[in-house]
Amino acid sequence: MAVVERMLELAKVKPGETVFDLGSGDGRVLIAAVNKFQAKGMGVELSQRLVKLSEDNIQKEGLEGKIQVIHGNMLEVDISKADVVTMYLVRDANDMLRPKLERSLKPGARVVSHDFEVRGWKPAYVDRAAGGGKGRPHAIYVYEMPQQSK
Ligand SMILES: C[S@@+](CC[C@H](N)C(=O)[O-])C[C@H]1O[C@@H](n2cnc3c(N)ncnc32)[C@H](O)[C@@H]1O
Repeated sequence: MAVVERMLELAKVKPGETVFDLGSGDGRVLIAAVNKFQAKGMGVELSQRLVKLSEDNIQKEGLEGKIQVIHGNMLEVDISKADVVTMYLVRDANDMLRPKLERSLKPGARVVSHDFEVRGWKPAYVDRAAGGGKGRPHAIYVYEMPQQSK
């Protein structure tokens, strides 16, 4: 959770912004985005089991209405409304996502990736020791979409 909160902090999530977690797992990033940063959460998750788990977790927190989780493939979902995109995938998945991120995201949107860089992009910031010293160090790569659209 320390890493999740650090990712959102480094992304400078502001109240009311929309955070997309691509591959949203059990929903922890989205729940933290709403509870700690007053954002809105959108998740995309391939696993039906994890979609159900995240919905249960969202319900336990009383956050229905503030978070939506789509059961689907992140490569096929409209992400153009994202102010911040978070991801904890692998390099190959980041490679596949990169053209979509470049095409879809608005200028100034932030992309934050846990442990794996987006190859070919220059990070605005890298934290190589996230996690508060507990367990292995985690890396967080922060990117900002250029102001000039491509
Ligand atoms: C390492 S987990 C990260 C979960 C969450 N983002 C977090 O940080 O706690 C990666 C998640 O991505 C999901 N995933 C992988 N490929 C995906 C795809 N193409 N579309 C949607 N979800 C995907 C997996 O099912 C898994 O739940």
